Amino acid sequence: MKKDWAKDFYKMQYEFIGNYGKDFYEVSAVEILSQIGKPIENLLELGSADGSLSRALSNKVSHITTVELVDNLVEKAKEVNPVNINAINGDFLEIDLQNTYDAIIYIDGFGLGDDSAQLNLLKNIKQWLKKDGCGLIDIYQPEHWKKADKIEMYVDPKNMPNIKRRYTYDYKNDVMIDTWWREGEEETKQSQYLKCYTLKEIKDMFEAAGLQIIEYFTNGAMDYETMTYTEDASSEKCMSYRIKVVRS
Ligand SMILES: C[S@@+](CC[C@H](N)C(=O)[O-])C[C@H]1O[C@@H](n2cnc3c(N)ncnc32)[C@H](O)[C@@H]1O
Repeated sequence: MKKDWAKDFYKMQYEFIGNYGKDFYEVSAVEILSQIGKPIENLLELGSADGSLSRALSNKVSHITTVELVDNLVEKAKEVNPVNINAINGDFLEIDLQNTYDAIIYIDGFGLGDDSAQLNLLKNIKQWLKKDGCGLIDIYQPEHWKKADKIEMYVDPKNMPNIKRRYTYDYKNDVMIDTWWREGEEETKQSQYLKCYTLKEIKDMFEAAGLQIIEYFTNGAMDYETMTYTEDASSEKCMSYRIKVVRS
């Protein structure tokens, strides 16, 4: 697996697609607040890209901190963030945060690197979580990504007719590989590598970090035969599932 791909890949991905639009994040914010299930004063978002989700949460949560690896995404966020968001450019594996949070979210991104990197992140999350706080983390679901193996498609045929992607699944390491390029320009190919975990594997890993899973939500699924997306997918079909965790 190529190392240190993350900054270049997410910078390129943002240049191609930007964000998903305000409505998408408004819906996502409502869902997240309902999954947290109680009023919160402060929240930490990891892997926050251009901060769109945190902005959608910012009228319901008094203080938000975001941590994002790609510097120009953080700059973009700072240009439009309200004053109650503190946007930090940094690596969540290395950053030293002194505060603790009522809620920590990592939406659509968990699984970079090997198991020891995930474990280090989880130990950080435990340290940053208040005693009665909770975390919401999306985990890529292996059975979905096995079915996506070798599927090639346009990322968004309507809005970006020349951007292609190809999924491959590394069965040995349970890693989904998502490669993007501009059609006809093979040299622009860049990939993200995300490790997929079953619920049992993830439970064991979270327990090792001192975190306990208390709820589980499935996210949507893509059917690659009909090329249709379903919002409510089963646990065997979903692209990812969201877990709610507390300190054990
Ligand atoms: C797939 S994107 C998801 C963005 C956003 N959470 C969303 O749902 O739209 C993952 C994000 O995590 C960021 N990221 C990856 N590794 C990181 C790290 N070690 N520290 C901070 N951010 C990281 C990436 O740069 C990218 O913006």
